[in-house]
Amino acid sequence: MAAVAPIADKVRDKPADKLAGKPAGALDVERLRAQFPILAREVHGKPLIYLDNAASAQKPRAVLQALEEIYTNRYANVHRSMHQLGNLATEAYEGARQKVQRFLGAAQADEIVFTASGTDALNLVASSFVAPRLKPGDEIVLSVLEHHSNIVPWHFLRERSGAVLRWVGLTEAGELDLEMLARALTPKTRLVALTHMSNVLGQFAPLAKVRALTAAAGVPLLVDGCQGAVHAPVNVQAMDCDFYVCTGHKLYGPTGVGVLFGKAQHLAAMRPWRGGGEMIEEVTQERVRYAEPPQRFEAGTPPFVQAAGLGAALDFLGAQDRAQLEAHEAQLGAAAAEKLAAIDGIRVLGAAGHTPDAITRRAVLCPLSMSRCIRMIWRPCWTATGLRCAPGSIAPSLCFRRWG
Ligand SMILES: Cc1ncc(COP(=O)(O)O)c(C=O)c1O
Repeated sequence: MAAVAPIADKVRDKPADKLAGKPAGALDVERLRAQFPILAREVHGKPLIYLDNAASAQKPRAVLQALEEIYTNRYANVHRSMHQLGNLATEAYEGARQKVQRFLGAAQADEIVFTASGTDALNLVASSFVAPRLKPGDEIVLSVLEHHSNIVPWHFLRERSGAVLRWVGLTEAGELDLEMLARALTPKTRLVALTHMSNVLGQFAPLAKVRALTAAAGVPLLVDGCQGAVHAPVNVQAMDCDFYVCTGHKLYGPTGVGVLFGKAQHLAAMRPWRGGGEMIEEVTQERVRYAEPPQRFEAGTPPFVQAAGLGAALDFLGAQDRAQLEAHEAQLGAAAAEKLAAIDGIRVLGAAGHTPDAITRRAVLCPLSMSRCIRMIWRPCWTATGLRCAPGSIAPSLCFRRWG
């Protein structure tokens, strides 16, 4: 693994002249970079170039400070500790729930469940919403764009309860095939679970059209927004999805916290999937009565420090000019796609999305296929420099199959 220089030696001051001279209205990249302490580090004497946000984002100083403040000044367990510190911690936790509610445009804060991760939230829906309603032969509809975390929980239901998985593919243009989705919806469909934005190709699903189809068929819709919530404004009421999932670590927040939005009537009808801690109303030797949502789904000590850190990350995101960010992102995407496509032996997959005539908006992800020769030449270069990006060879996405 590449050596990383110790922080103290390697934090570089940004030259003041790099902070000036940007075109009016353009994103002040240097000012934004300066808010991420890790970006001041060098790796093997080269500035860190971090291109792995789709896997996990780096943390702004505001998030790091929020975490330190809680552990230093406000730390105690939530909901059960009846003293001043416990009250402060509970306030911060429930305050974070309200921030997430506003971020997702949910009607009520108690429609927001904190989980351990995006994966955990998806498993919660599989175990608590779908599994109890499932008969052998019932169907769950997924697309080939899904992250493994939105595939494996449904395979569990296939293996354990006899569910049938139906797959929606891509059109020739690389878009979600809506005709295939319409054909996949049957009276046996129990859920449609689709990504908001592909973590592989970067494209957004046409959710309004998807919702029209699922609503007409009376099928609940789960949207996996682990990537989408980072790149686009979300309003779960306008989207009219039944469940929406996102994750702290990609939204510039801490690891160890995920979010499940569920419509109040669904959460109220769901059984808990993990037991213990504050998820009960009453427990005796003979019986147990469960707490109301969202506590019903937050067994044990919840990730309350991480949730407060996520709240700080949402404040940070809310303070940015989204239009500026999107314009800058589009520029970077177009430049990267053009330059990479000009290299012999590299194919940029789904690159049509970076051009203005794209059918669907894409976020800047640059999935590549590389010839063996290019891989051999490039790999030593990027491990010896500050460049960090993700190899897809370990867990290739289902949608790569269409490019062989
Ligand atoms: C689209 C998508 N869904 C789900 C996940 C899983 O999220 P987590 O890492 O919080 O479990 C990821 C993470 O890579 C993702 O990109």
